[in-house]
Amino acid sequence: MASTFRKLRVVWTAGAVLVCLLPAISHGSDEVPYVPPKSPVVREKLEWFRDQKLCLMMHFGVYSILGITESWPLSTKDAFWARTDIEWTKDDAEFKRQYFALNKCFNPVRFNGSEIAKTAKRCGFRYVAFTTKHHDGFCLYDTKLTDYKTTAPECPYSANPNADIVKNLFDACRAEGLGISAYFSKPDWHHDDFWENCGIGTRTDRYPTYDTAKNPEKWARFREFAKGQILELVKGYGPIDILWLDGGWVKPSKGCDLGMTDIIAAARQIQPDLISVDRGQRNENMNIATPEQTVPDEPLDYPWESCITMSDGWGYHYDDTYKSPRALIHMLIDVVAKGGNLALNVGPMPDGRLPRPALDRMETMGRWLAKNGEAIYGTRAASVASRGKWRFTRGKDGRVFAIRLWKESDAGSVGVLLNVDAQQGDVVRVRHLASGLDIPFVESDGDTRGVILTFPEGFVRDEYADAFEVEYRK
Ligand code: GLC
Repeated sequence: MASTFRKLRVVWTAGAVLVCLLPAISHGSDEVPYVPPKSPVVREKLEWFRDQKLCLMMHFGVYSILGITESWPLSTKDAFWARTDIEWTKDDAEFKRQYFALNKCFNPVRFNGSEIAKTAKRCGFRYVAFTTKHHDGFCLYDTKLTDYKTTAPECPYSANPNADIVKNLFDACRAEGLGISAYFSKPDWHHDDFWENCGIGTRTDRYPTYDTAKNPEKWARFREFAKGQILELVKGYGPIDILWLDGGWVKPSKGCDLGMTDIIAAARQIQPDLISVDRGQRNENMNIATPEQTVPDEPLDYPWESCITMSDGWGYHYDDTYKSPRALIHMLIDVVAKGGNLALNVGPMPDGRLPRPALDRMETMGRWLAKNGEAIYGTRAASVASRGKWRFTRGKDGRVFAIRLWKESDAGSVGVLLNVDAQQGDVVRVRHLASGLDIPFVESDGDTRGVILTFPEGFVRDEYADAFEVEYRK
């Protein structure tokens, strides 16, 4: 989805708008440049966003109970890929009835927002993204606009004091100083003004089951509903940093105009610095690019966040394969060197806890970040993002960091070639962040400009990656 290409586009730097030749993100055919928000407070908030780097994203909903793909099995036309992990009825209508009835057994009695927030904080995550509602329409907050929610009597979890899961989690995140990104699905397959009769008896796809142009009153009702639900979140759940609206196909060119600009304006009446992510759009409601399951090839100089699953799926799966700690740490470093953030997704288990393999990986990342975070948080892309196994970042104070990604087989290596940016001048000092040791080096001769580091006695190589601050002669 996020292939990069070169074209004329607008960028903004420190408030000035420039037109220049730089990569823009392509989303299918509608290749439109990034449009910076007009509001100065939102621009300032985006600088905060760029400092954060690592987000814990969580997809949680009724699908987590069965460990199936989130929402998508409901779409008949997506069954060919989304129902493959389900040994279930072949009867489409019965399938939908059973899926939607899962609210009657959603009871994550061990969901503990405070524990999740504390773990996320300890492991170096700076903000949390959470599915307040996915496409299936099941709300994990106390919306007044539908009974398909955790707090309605039909759902056993409604008896729990933390039945308003979103409130429980967001309050806990705030208490830990973590930022908050509220995932909300624009499409709602449970709502009669989107999928009539929950799509039961219809060969559904991701769009409304009726022609919105022929039935504008019905669509207007859905518009009001979506607006109402978004404003409930913005009004009733304390400060939210990012409103992350999924379902990019719900847009005017598809006959699905929600009047997003009005909704965002109304939301910003309440929270003026709210960052808006209207996915799939290229307009001023899309303040952050969100490449999905991919990292852009090149640095992008506007705010972006790759959302990537730690395992195979977004929601919890009973048999899942997790990426290795090395792959995750390298991915984070690569994203940061390209100037972006990583929203790393984990699916909580049916009882509400995070799976052990996810926790283990988070702890490993946290240990690495505790030693090397200076080269990660608050940085921007350096003039050169990467050379071979090196990644570079730049502190806002101008300091340059070089991070070496280690393979398992690199064990025991003592000298490495650190390729440095020719424009920066001569290297005068290389400091190993984790130990504070000064690393001796010599200028390399040969074609590649750089210095060769020789690790001194007592230097212990990190298992995954080592970060160095590189000082240049002024
Ligand atoms: C994909 C999935 C969707 C998920 C989203 C997160 O689009 O289909 O279910 O919420 O990724 O970015």
